[in-house]
Amino acid sequence: MKIVNITGSPRKKGTSIRIANSFIDSLKDKGVETNTYHLNQMNFKGCQGCDICKQKSETCIQKDDLSIVLSDIFNADIAVFSSPVYYGDVTGQFKSFFDRTWSFVGADYRSSRVPSGKKAVLILTQADVESVHLDVVDRYTKFLTSYGFEIEIIRATGCGMEKNADVSYEITKASEIAQKIGL
Ligand SMILES: Cc1cc2nc3c(=O)[nH]c(=O)nc-3n(C[C@H](O)[C@H](O)[C@H](O)COP(=O)(O)O)c2cc1C
Repeated sequence: MKIVNITGSPRKKGTSIRIANSFIDSLKDKGVETNTYHLNQMNFKGCQGCDICKQKSETCIQKDDLSIVLSDIFNADIAVFSSPVYYGDVTGQFKSFFDRTWSFVGADYRSSRVPSGKKAVLILTQADVESVHLDVVDRYTKFLTSYGFEIEIIRATGCGMEKNADVSYEITKASEIAQKIGL
């Protein structure tokens, strides 16, 4: 089994990455191959809107650090996407990455090029209470579903920027989801 783990937080010890790590660590002994990409450490541009991925190419023609990430998603059984909410959406790093998945959309601007049968785990964390930023969950659920992913959502709310914000519940949930879908 292959997992691709894409993190959108600049904070490697922050809430979202700790939850993602819990998912990955729970499958460590199961012969799983994991490729982790910390977007904040990578050099890439957002989508240039050239639309060549609709006219002439099935993949994004930009060659940068994201090229391997995009192709790894096609090769993985499970994709883990994590990001804190920044100003009412995912982080800029994650948004720029996500825009590049435009190449996942077929030439008809509707179909998905992502091979079917994949699962995604969407991890979102925020300082605000649960009723706020539900639109973020809905938006990325909708996009990932349109690509054909079967999605599990882990959402941690009320997590401030303090070190060691308590996400023990979500860490356990990530481990349980890993046991459920990762075997
Ligand atoms: C630039 C910035 C913008 C933020 N904007 C929001 C926001 O709009 N809503 C919210 O609930 N939390 C917001 N937060 C708080 C983070 O989403 C929250 O602390 C999150 O748990 C941090 O995740 P991390 O530890 O994985 O980096 C913001 C934090 C930063 C640094």
